[in-house]
Amino acid sequence: MSNSIKKIGVFTSGGDSPGMNAAVRSVVRACAFHSVECVGIYRGYEGMIDGDFTPMDARSVKGIINKGGTILKSARSKEFRTKEGRAKAYEQLKKANIDALVVIGGDGSFTGSMIFNQEYNFPVMGIPGTIDNDIFGTSHTLGYDTALNTVVEAIDKIRDTASSHNRLFFVEVMGRDVGHIALNVGVGAGAEEILIPEEDLGLDRLLESLRRSKQSGKSSSIVVVAEGDKIGKNVFELKDYVDANMAEYEVRVSVLGHMQRGGPPSCFDRVLASRMGVRAVEGLLNGESNYMVGLRNDKIQITPFDQAVKGKSKINMELLRVSDIMSV
Ligand code: F6P
Repeated sequence: MSNSIKKIGVFTSGGDSPGMNAAVRSVVRACAFHSVECVGIYRGYEGMIDGDFTPMDARSVKGIINKGGTILKSARSKEFRTKEGRAKAYEQLKKANIDALVVIGGDGSFTGSMIFNQEYNFPVMGIPGTIDNDIFGTSHTLGYDTALNTVVEAIDKIRDTASSHNRLFFVEVMGRDVGHIALNVGVGAGAEEILIPEEDLGLDRLLESLRRSKQSGKSSSIVVVAEGDKIGKNVFELKDYVDANMAEYEVRVSVLGHMQRGGPPSCFDRVLASRMGVRAVEGLLNGESNYMVGLRNDKIQITPFDQAVKGKSKINMELLRVSDIMSV
């Protein structure tokens, strides 16, 4: 391990996700294991610019592996997008004798780190923390597995009331502009239709599918809509359209919103976070920088930031076919 790095800063950035605390814990303890100091940076790049730092040792991260959210808080920083903002952040890091960074966040956070590294040659490793699972180079981002389980549980509850009242529910889920959450929870919760940005079903085909469900004897239906879906302006417009064109259905809408980002991380996310934190720290100590740590074929592997932020994770087409067959 390189001995040039003596102090590593860790921070969480962008939309929070379950598992971020487990990743912070892993980074701090990997630093302790390798006798490297660790500093927590509050509020992402905003806190970096403000010098909002706190020393962290192995005991400071006790009891957080099972906590949702992030004890370091998170933020989106406009100022860090400016050269002046990044210069302030650099000065703060130098003043605190921080030699390297671990950023836990999404593609926007990695882009910021990549530019910072280019301008200051500052060593950075990234851990993908977002429920969207929209980052190239990893099969799972931190929080995605937990979000799937949270959403499928919520839809099971909606199914109870939908079937009690013979209603059609449009359930909007998060995922920004990709459909991983919608597709997986749609199959997992047995939805009659799944609307995702990657496949434009079209309003006519949606009506046809709903009519087919009705004719096949289904008295209630669930349609999962990814928030990035383009079929209608929004899920309420979809409701109005079906109200106007299918008298046989009583339609309701449920927008799950930010509850999808909360709750205790699943065991899968806790283990993934622990593996990624160790790899990020040991990568820095081995002189690596500008990489995202990811999971590929159940192996922890690194991807250059510029590929991780440029690529988009692809939708699972085989699962899309399974979802079509399941809604027969
Ligand atoms: O990126 C995570 C995410 O939850 C997206 O799924 C969602 O579109 C967005 O963040 C919401 O952003 P905000 O936290 O600013 O409301």
